[in-house]
Amino acid sequence: MTQALIPELTIVIPTFNEKANIRPMVALLDDALQDVAWDVVFVDDDSPDGTAAEVRALGREDGRVRVLHRIGRRGLAGACIEGILSSVAPVCAVIDADLQHDETKLPEMLARLRDNPDLDIVIGSRNVEDGSAGTGLTSVRKWGSDQATTLAQRMLRITASDPMSGFFMVRRTSFNQVVLELQSAGFKILADMLSAARGRWNVSEIGYTFRERQHGESKMDAAVTLEFLGLLLARITGGVLSIRFILFGMVGVSGIFVQLIMVKLMLMLGFGFSVAQTLGVFSAMTTNFLANNLLTYRDRSLKGPEFLRGLLSFYAVCAIGALANVGVATITYTAIPAWAFASAVGAIVGALWNFVASSRVTWKSR
Ligand code: GDD
Ligand code: MN
Repeated sequence: MTQALIPELTIVIPTFNEKANIRPMVALLDDALQDVAWDVVFVDDDSPDGTAAEVRALGREDGRVRVLHRIGRRGLAGACIEGILSSVAPVCAVIDADLQHDETKLPEMLARLRDNPDLDIVIGSRNVEDGSAGTGLTSVRKWGSDQATTLAQRMLRITASDPMSGFFMVRRTSFNQVVLELQSAGFKILADMLSAARGRWNVSEIGYTFRERQHGESKMDAAVTLEFLGLLLARITGGVLSIRFILFGMVGVSGIFVQLIMVKLMLMLGFGFSVAQTLGVFSAMTTNFLANNLLTYRDRSLKGPEFLRGLLSFYAVCAIGALANVGVATITYTAIPAWAFASAVGAIVGALWNFVASSRVTWKSR
């Protein structure tokens, strides 16, 4: 009896507001995996629609179903990583909850891993023979997805045809080789894994047709695209810079433009330079706060009363950062009298301070 409960395959399903898809999804898995000992873990980020409760209800009817309920956190890649880590099975598959991926390919994916002990991963691909993006994506998203694929292939030296796929099956021992390098921020865990494997993995691909979503809506948005660019840069720096730091940097650069535009505007309106500069700095700090709250820290985005507290603490953090910037630049200039160098050193120290301090104070994790 107990033997039957030990899974050979764990299906990891990240969810955010997918309540209506839970039961249909498990029913499809049940059909597809008749001869396999499997279990499924839904990794839910405390969805407001009650997805986690729905999974628990189903789990009381079917012992193969469980939930990993994460509170105060968001993120697709991190959810997949934790789901895989929560499993005892030697093989894990990741598949979306929304029925867009083709679960009937799972037995074939498992068979390939069983037959070839050297194989590390099987990827469900839309870009091989028998595969297709179907009508599951709008033409704009299809174009964006193609661009991202080409970028990832070139910049990360990935040869797989669909590194953007959210549908794959990986051997645990292989996953363990790369897990320490993976970034939990972001959407594209497969591209990150393949990049971390540095071409050493044996990869097999299986075509599938991307289906249309039936219930709920996609979580892909502009922030996901920027996160992906962050992932590429993080990977290029060999993981020295995190996705979060890169996003923080992008926001910082946008702040420079806000400040310049604001100062110009105020001067045009007849304000004196000091007033214009002060307003410019405050505008930049404010838009930086808003952008970081929406993008860099959207997994712990501040709302309601927290929002105001966060804004004020961000002003305070930036004020100290500015003092550190000037202080360090002055000391540097005394030692090495090259203004551009000294000024840049000051800016880097100020930016690092702002990043570290705001992540500890303004957007402290729970
Ligand atoms: N836990 C958790 N946390 N799950 C999430 C989050 C999150 O922050 N964001 C999205 N999900 C879950 C969704 O509930 C869904 O089950 C799955 O991740 C994919 O999200 P979608 O919003 O449906 O993404 P998509 O359809 O636009 O894109 C998917 O398919 C593409 C093609 O394979 C993703 O899997 C892409 O990575 C993939 O490229
Ligand atoms: Mn989807």
